Amino acid sequence: MPNTVLVTQPLPDQYLARLAEHAELDVLDAGESLSDPALGTRRSACCGVVCTLTDTIDRALLKDMNMLKFVSSVSVGVDHIDVSALSVRGIALGNTPGVLADATADTAFALLLAAARRIAEGDRYIRDGKWTASNRWSPGFFLGKDVSGSTLGIVGLGPVGQAMARRAAGFGMTVASWTPSGRKVPGVCSLSLEALLATSDFVSVHVALADTTRNLINGARIATMKPGAVLINTARGGIVDESAVAAALDDGRLFAAGLDVFEEEPVPADSLLLKHPRVVVVPHIGSATASTRLKMADRAVVNAVAALRDEPMPYCVNPEVYAAL
Ligand code: DGY
Repeated sequence: MPNTVLVTQPLPDQYLARLAEHAELDVLDAGESLSDPALGTRRSACCGVVCTLTDTIDRALLKDMNMLKFVSSVSVGVDHIDVSALSVRGIALGNTPGVLADATADTAFALLLAAARRIAEGDRYIRDGKWTASNRWSPGFFLGKDVSGSTLGIVGLGPVGQAMARRAAGFGMTVASWTPSGRKVPGVCSLSLEALLATSDFVSVHVALADTTRNLINGARIATMKPGAVLINTARGGIVDESAVAAALDDGRLFAAGLDVFEEEPVPADSLLLKHPRVVVVPHIGSATASTRLKMADRAVVNAVAALRDEPMPYCVNPEVYAAL
């Protein structure tokens, strides 16, 4: 029986062609999802899955996937996958590090500028016909926050956090960070999370979502932020308590927020955040540039091809599965 790889979202043709040199491909249609009950036989027949962050892979799903040898996710974050459930079964998990830091930091910095200078709000103001002779330029019209010369607090100093620090330096910002790993980077002052939240004009979240970071920026911590601060999140929604953000915007603790990621995606239309004029939102597009997505697809296919050749994946999240080799 040929090796079959389930591909949950169509990849560009050249990447599918590379995969097809090594396995039979079963590419899901637009209306299908990996967890569809109707897909039972196809799931149990596959030796590998190439998935994205919209596919949840948990113990329940894995139960009938007895042939599975690898999962290759077209993402750097793997919080949609139960990694330990894969590891106990010796199933390798690949991800796509090292190619999306700049694109994601660009998005974070765009949100920072837009939130500080009320760009989306101004755009809506004009389109809604509110910029009129009686509502126009005046010394107090549409005031925002200074970016240049202010302090940016970076939560998580991995590749995206470091790329954010480089951008902030170009804007003359003072850059501080708190990171779970204790990593230090020249030009970035290391602080406790408490001190960072209390002193930063802008806080940008760049940690991975894990048990230790879920709800890290909760109501109690938001209440200690510098009054009038701006919160940016391009990491994962589960790290920030959204209802606490909405409350802090209402009571003025936060001046604004810029969000690319949400606890639930797509964000529900009745989310309190969407009702607040100072929240700038985009639909999880941090890495969404054509060249970045090609590089991510490339990494995912390189991982899958290695697994199909019984070689270690070059970008493996759980390399302990190779310990016995
Ligand atoms: C990732 O790869 O985890 C990013 O969230 C994609 O934008």
